[in-house]
Amino acid sequence: MRALTWHGKSDIRCERVPDPRLEDPRDAIIKVTACAICGSDLHIFDGVIPEMEHGDVLGHETMGEVVEVGPGVTNLKVGDRVVVPFTIACGECFFCRRGFHSACERSNPDRAKASKLWGNSPAGLFGYSHLLGGYAGGQAEYLRVPYADVGPLKVPRGLSDEQALFLSDIFPTGYMAAEFCGITGGETIAVWGCGPVGQFAIRSAFLLGAERVLAIDTVPERLAMARAAGAETLDFMQEDVYDRVMELTRGRGADACIDAVGTEPATTASFDSILDRIKVATFMGTDRPHVLRQAIHCCRNFGTVSVVGVYGGFLDKIPMGSAINRGLTFRMAQTPVQRYLPLLLERIEKGEIDPSFVVTHRASLEDGPVLYETFRDKRDGCIKVVLTP
Ligand SMILES: NC(=O)c1ccc[n+]([C@@H]2O[C@H](COP(=O)([O-])OP(=O)(O)OC[C@H]3O[C@@H](n4cnc5c(N)ncnc54)[C@H](O)[C@@H]3O)[C@@H](O)[C@H]2O)c1
Ligand SMILES: [Zn+2]
Ligand SMILES: [Zn+2]
Repeated sequence: MRALTWHGKSDIRCERVPDPRLEDPRDAIIKVTACAICGSDLHIFDGVIPEMEHGDVLGHETMGEVVEVGPGVTNLKVGDRVVVPFTIACGECFFCRRGFHSACERSNPDRAKASKLWGNSPAGLFGYSHLLGGYAGGQAEYLRVPYADVGPLKVPRGLSDEQALFLSDIFPTGYMAAEFCGITGGETIAVWGCGPVGQFAIRSAFLLGAERVLAIDTVPERLAMARAAGAETLDFMQEDVYDRVMELTRGRGADACIDAVGTEPATTASFDSILDRIKVATFMGTDRPHVLRQAIHCCRNFGTVSVVGVYGGFLDKIPMGSAINRGLTFRMAQTPVQRYLPLLLERIEKGEIDPSFVVTHRASLEDGPVLYETFRDKRDGCIKVVLTP
């Protein structure tokens, strides 16, 4: 089959690889009808994710048609249309039973390696390094889905691929980011990053009852999309974000702050973000947490900092003094996607949100390598890419 494969920093290729096969009774094989490129894939593209190997098949936002099922999968049959969560989960372990599927204790065969770095291991992920199982991803013609009786969600006939695809990751992730904010009605939520994840966080915050959303980015079309959702926008290259957030909240700060940027913020936004870049380049640091610092400072006393932007290692100069003295709460996770699927599918079916709003680019798998660049460089108005194999 054809698939997008990793060969090093900025080197992604569309090439032929062996078709996947059933390896376990609980596996299914999906013929991919649509897949997307995520901001998390850009961390791989930029070479900041460790333990990638030549030829690894990328992609973790995938949907398609079931073409084969193992004998252990009784809830799916050939021909079913499904969307596949990026988190691989057994459904039965201590964490899965509690709804924390992204911490599944069984789906990461590399858990010893992950534990060495992080103290313990999260779940395995599709197309995301040999720290997290080294599973082949879904930017391909076919995908092997482990624990297929747990993850895949059947897509109702009335929904198009583009309306269902983002249930695999960015809609649940943006929704979780907003849910972490403990919105009860009337809050002001600040969101750093108006990429695809930020866009879903903004819309989810309004869905949950936020009164105002302050959306921060510098890319004009991303800010425009945030305004279309009802957000007030701030351009971090044009204005001082902290000063503006204070001005807009009468000096108190936002009730909750969402970091939907993570470890690769724009380098030149501020002095500390330049310093972070130098530290990472000289192996003096693992991450560039400029946005997290700013989110902490902009959060009101006893507010919540919700982190869904991905970080990898050991973060430097985090203002813990500010956080403890002012009573902040931190919430963060790789999204336990399975937990959110029934609820979010219902919101789509009721017409409360149509996730396809975020798509700007549609192309074939062969165009994938070029579109990785377009998406990374935010060229050509690119906000979200959907590939059809
Ligand atoms: N927790 C999860 O389960 C999960 C799931 C999906 C994605 N993610 C992570 O979410 C993050 C965003 O993903 P995406 O697909 O939206 O990526 P993206 O790269 O398209 O979006 C990031 C946005 O942040 C903006 N930005 C850069 N520096 C900034 C700054 N200083 N202040 C404000 N905005 C700034 C960029 O202009 C860009 O629009 C990534 O780190 C990704 O890995 C996490
Ligand atoms: Zn993702
Ligand atoms: Zn499990």
